[in-house]
Amino acid sequence: MSPGAPEPGPDLAGDAHPIVPRRVAFDWEATPLHWIPDEPTATHVINVLHLLLPAGERWFVKVFKEGLPLVTDPELRRDVKGFMGQEATHSVQHAYVLDHLAQQQLPTEAYTKHVDFLFEKLLGERPPFKVPVTAQEWLRFRLSLIAAIEQFTAVLGDWVLRAETLERAGADEVMLDLLRWHGAEEVEHRSVAFDMYQHCGGSGLPRYARRVEGMVVVAPVLAWLWIWGASYLIRNDPRLGGRTRYSLRGHNRAVAKGLLPTWRELGTAIPRYFRRSYHPSQEGSLRRAVEYLAASPAARAAAGAVGRAAMS
Ligand SMILES: [Fe+2]
Ligand SMILES: [Fe+2]
Repeated sequence: MSPGAPEPGPDLAGDAHPIVPRRVAFDWEATPLHWIPDEPTATHVINVLHLLLPAGERWFVKVFKEGLPLVTDPELRRDVKGFMGQEATHSVQHAYVLDHLAQQQLPTEAYTKHVDFLFEKLLGERPPFKVPVTAQEWLRFRLSLIAAIEQFTAVLGDWVLRAETLERAGADEVMLDLLRWHGAEEVEHRSVAFDMYQHCGGSGLPRYARRVEGMVVVAPVLAWLWIWGASYLIRNDPRLGGRTRYSLRGHNRAVAKGLLPTWRELGTAIPRYFRRSYHPSQEGSLRRAVEYLAASPAARAAAGAVGRAAMS
């Protein structure tokens, strides 16, 4: 199925779906630097995920740990714990890709130190620069940011599960499995950050206004980090030798080939999120996500390891 095509058949009931981490592992030994052959722009635009997610998802877990004592609903509590387990695993697995990039002479610390500063200092446990907001309001603001980010991770997750163009372009199987295992878990837990925000974010208009504010902050900052990250990777790629620059034209060429999501797919996620009655349970296809997780080499190996450990 091509990207953008309607999803197959009725979806699964999202609410009843258990959210559990899968202890996956990937072997990066044979993955080339340009893991989509001859497509450095698409490769590096997707690689920005590896730059942002180790610190970003670690931060999700920290903020959720702060919020967990406020969760009184046992079902949400269970989902939040599953979400934390999944995001912690994502963070670690993407960090391994950064080690692999460094081994291929593409070090990333000069970029990731800024990402670390953003999540650890600017968005840490206390507001930066002694900004006068209450602890409750600071937590609610950060939860609204996570809910907005998770809108995009669900959209991207569903896209990568549908993007058969990546196989046709000869994309590395291990990288595809990482992206699709992660994407599938993003679709699987697409509602948890939103529900967590709604639960802890107060009520009425202030809660809705802060939700909108979260997206108003997240969308431009994410776009900026992405452009900066793709530019960094392309500029520092030893195989490109500084001869290529990240450009909108190059990006759009990759979009036209189906190697990156369209601007429309990404852009329409924003007004959808602004609807007062919005809930992410209909983002993407849970059925497609669950089907992929049943077939994913890494997820199957993790399930086998868990099964073997239980039997021994
Ligand atoms: Fe994730
Ligand atoms: Fe997520």
